[in-house]
Amino acid sequence: MVKLKVAVLVSGRGSNMQAILDATQDPDYPAEIALVVSNIEGAAALDRARDANIKTVTIAHKDFPDRESFDAEVTREIKEAGCALVVLAGFMRLLSEEFCSAWHNQLINIHPSLLPSFKGLDVYQRMIDAGVRFGGCTVHYVRHEMDTGPIIAQAAVPVHPDDDADKFAARILEQEHKIYPLAVKWIAEGRVRVSGEVARVTGAVPAEGALINFQS
Ligand code: GRF
Repeated sequence: MVKLKVAVLVSGRGSNMQAILDATQDPDYPAEIALVVSNIEGAAALDRARDANIKTVTIAHKDFPDRESFDAEVTREIKEAGCALVVLAGFMRLLSEEFCSAWHNQLINIHPSLLPSFKGLDVYQRMIDAGVRFGGCTVHYVRHEMDTGPIIAQAAVPVHPDDDADKFAARILEQEHKIYPLAVKWIAEGRVRVSGEVARVTGAVPAEGALINFQS
């Protein structure tokens, strides 16, 4: 099987990268991580990647005069590693329009809310404060505008009565670790296509029924 080569871009702890890495241990998984790029030296994600003998590179954004030159260097490394899919996994930098166009429909992100609601940072407390009964997470293709782009998969996660931001975040993260490797698998299998800014997955079984949750 020819595996899809994936580059993962990280800035922090790397638990989503780890979830994908764990999935790649299955010989039947159709993708492999060929490169991990961090903009932060010493990010925990880099240690995890090295432990798995994955090539890592740190490209410190502060060494570059502007966003475009930093992004160009990231692109150069990704191409050199022969990757055809770029996976953002807690990568805490906005990417330039050039980068998003260069990797159009080959660049995905995971965000800890049910997009298009609750874009941006610090989503957990904002969701609790807004009194929503469900949050969740979204895997989506990346467009230049932050937290936009065709949605590949979502998981809905209920808010519990005793939730604080940390408890809610932990429950969402569990689902992130499921849907991100799944979305990468679908892409590697060539089952995801985008038309009219909607992503559709061939052969995926849709969720049935509905969940009900309320404030108690
Ligand atoms: C996750 O919550 C993800 O949704 C967001 O950044 C966080 C990254 O966590 N984009 P990790 O580095 O993958 O553990």
